[in-house]
Amino acid sequence: MRLILLGPPGAGKGTQAQRLTAKHGLVQLSTGDMLRAAVKAGTAIGLKAKAVMDSGALVSDEIVVGIIAERIDQPDCRKGFILDGFPRTTKQAEALDKMLAERKLRLDAVIEMKVNDSVLVERITGRFTCAKCGAGYHDKFQPTRQPGVCDRCGSNEFTRRADDKAETVVPRLKAYHEQTAPLLPYYEGRGILRQVDGMADIDDVTGQIEAVLASL
Ligand code: AP5
Ligand code: MG
Ligand code: ZN
Repeated sequence: MRLILLGPPGAGKGTQAQRLTAKHGLVQLSTGDMLRAAVKAGTAIGLKAKAVMDSGALVSDEIVVGIIAERIDQPDCRKGFILDGFPRTTKQAEALDKMLAERKLRLDAVIEMKVNDSVLVERITGRFTCAKCGAGYHDKFQPTRQPGVCDRCGSNEFTRRADDKAETVVPRLKAYHEQTAPLLPYYEGRGILRQVDGMADIDDVTGQIEAVLASL
């Protein structure tokens, strides 16, 4: 199965992708996570991407398309994957179509996570992640079971993203509405766009996505 999770920053793409990978054995391909790993490792791509990400703008199509093209040929992607945060521009969507066509693969569904802008600042500014295993949490909506201890791996080290400040959310949302939202009619025209109510609580959203997958 090959899916795209499409939605604004803080919509819950990463949260739901982590659940789907665990349940369906799909690989989560998050360009945001890959870029953050490149920044941390200090690679040439990371050096180029850092300032752009911190400002809330989009990294160049060339860079992210290159990252994905390389990644989908890895053996672990054979069973299927969930694209989280890619594509984000029409150019990226066209590059993805081409990549899949060349490999005789097709997309099963594009799932739009619909969330009002008004809740996104709170979701983003309360987010934190386990530094060791990458599990995602939220101060209010998804705290660890035991304060300060990761549910999944027991680590007590957590990180917060450099772009998760209230002032950076505004340009990130602007980038979403201007550059990414046009992908909704693009995929609707192909008949593969599905929608879920991302305003619901986390378990409910998972249920809605499972219902979409069951209907494919
Ligand atoms: P990226 O890492 O993709 O960030 P994003 O799209 O802004 O999305 P987020 O990761 O912020 O949100 P999410 O939807 O994953 O939400 P989450 O599940 O964590 O990209 C970062 C940057 O990298 C971009 O700005 C850009 O510069 C660059 N980049 C990446 N890909 C690119 C591309 N293709 N092209 C160009 N540039 C690219 O949830 C958020 C929080 O809310 C969590 O704490 C969670 O616990 C909580 N939560 C989740 N669901 C719910 C719920 N239903 N109810 C209550 N709380 C919830
Ligand atoms: Mg994410
Ligand atoms: Zn952990």
